[in-house]
Amino acid sequence: MSSKKVLDESLTRDIECIMISAAQLQARTQELGREISRDYRRLLGSALEENTPIAIGLLRGAITFMADLTRALSIPIEYDFMQPSSYGQSHEAGPLRLLHDLTQPVVGRHLLVIEDIVDTGQTLSYLKEKLLQRGAASVKLCALLDKPARRQQAVTLDYTGFCIEQDAFLVGYGLDYAERYRNLPYVAALKPQAYQGE
Ligand code: IMP
Repeated sequence: MSSKKVLDESLTRDIECIMISAAQLQARTQELGREISRDYRRLLGSALEENTPIAIGLLRGAITFMADLTRALSIPIEYDFMQPSSYGQSHEAGPLRLLHDLTQPVVGRHLLVIEDIVDTGQTLSYLKEKLLQRGAASVKLCALLDKPARRQQAVTLDYTGFCIEQDAFLVGYGLDYAERYRNLPYVAALKPQAYQGE
């Protein structure tokens, strides 16, 4: 008996194509986990235990990636979350607001910000500056997906899962359109007609 689940038609009818399969996501996440673990071991050595880095997941899109990535790490890591919002119900960017903030001070702490996708660069450049202003010892940025052609604000990513060259709106593996599609097991491009004319 096949264990492959059949996705509901309402989840897939507006999908143009699968861009990154579940197996590709899994493989790349494991690679990133090894790379990040190695880098923090080099940076912190024996101080890792008393100065454990904090993984800061950006709600809501990064939680799926964060859950897989942090389980691929071989070093200790704490969790916290921030929720920046600019997209509301649509796919067009707007001004950035912080809907949820960290639950602890970050003075002297090493922070790994985990994001689903970098588009204009506004969110990550704003958050990195904010966290450094709060006294973080280091802020590393890790994004599952990067759309460099859409960049408006320069931001240097320390870790990137996949670079997306196509001009497409992506959903799945945490990414949404109007809060839908986050639970798709892969990353897919949405049909333009699904969000055009919104
Ligand atoms: P930035 O501040 O313009 O870099 O926007 C980053 C945020 O925009 C991400 O955290 C997503 O919430 C959203 N975003 C940008 N492109 C996409 C996409 O293709 N699909 C889903 N969300 C996106």
